[in-house]
Amino acid sequence: MRELTSDTITDAVLEQMATTPDPRMREVMEAAVKHLHAFAREVNLTPGEWIKGIAFMTAVGKMCTAERQEFVLLSDTLGLSALVNGLHDETAIEEGTHTSLLGPFYREASPKLEAGTQIARTVKPGSECVLYGRVTDVNGGPLANATVSIWQTGADGLYDIQEQGAAIDYRGVFTTDTNGVYVLRTVKPIGYSIPMDGPVGEMIAAQKRHGMRPAHIHFLVGAPGYRELVTALYLRDDPHLADDVVFGSSGDLAVDLDRSDPNCPIKGLPSIRFDMRLSREGEADKTSGRVGTDPAAIMRSAKTGNGQTHAPAAS
Ligand code: BEZ
Ligand code: FE
Repeated sequence: MRELTSDTITDAVLEQMATTPDPRMREVMEAAVKHLHAFAREVNLTPGEWIKGIAFMTAVGKMCTAERQEFVLLSDTLGLSALVNGLHDETAIEEGTHTSLLGPFYREASPKLEAGTQIARTVKPGSECVLYGRVTDVNGGPLANATVSIWQTGADGLYDIQEQGAAIDYRGVFTTDTNGVYVLRTVKPIGYSIPMDGPVGEMIAAQKRHGMRPAHIHFLVGAPGYRELVTALYLRDDPHLADDVVFGSSGDLAVDLDRSDPNCPIKGLPSIRFDMRLSREGEADKTSGRVGTDPAAIMRSAKTGNGQTHAPAAS
């Protein structure tokens, strides 16, 4: 029988896993084992550190519910979600608006609303604004009847899903008109802290990171024949635009609040304009491009083990 040493263990694992029939599963698992072992060797991982890591991952799992996804938060704060978004963008057949984080607060059950509707249940004086823009193909041709799902935090920096009772608020689904225009009323978004009361928050605090996201509004846009777009707009004047704790913000997604935009379809309010370009659908779009999902869907998928984490793409 062969003696296993710290030098030969990696090859022994790879050899045993070589029976994996699914070629993609084999490729991903082989790379995962190689890098995991290389990581342990590089830092000379001690037994105490290993158990601390196991306890941390256990705490992350225990924090997950139908309303909260601590693993997605962990992936976000380690830059993994932003990396996977970037890799996904590179598979598009045309260069459209770039992807940004879906985050852990998307909900599938969002109301379909008429153009111009206010999505906030309560609007503090002076905070109301119009949000509008055009959804087009990469050449600027309008995409009529595109579905534009929007969600953001309220004045307290929390999503509805984080509040007791979790009534739908600050979110809605709109449809573009024949010119590809969507329009709604909302409140000016503010920067907020990611949830700091769990193991990921402890990690962020131990690293002396600020934990803040710059002010933003999320979008999930679908149109038949086009690649689904998960993105967000960011307010340019936010002090954390350049050091978002989850690496989602970028200059090309930054916009300004305009107090006198002559093109705004609703007059008398400050406005934010955010146009989005969608790539035509390609081979890579046969499977979902979403890096994230409704936390309830992950819980369902974990129970059934079928890997189905969201309803069919919005279109
Ligand atoms: C968000 O923007 O909703 C978000 C993204 C990543 C982590 C936490 C929140
Ligand atoms: Fe957000």
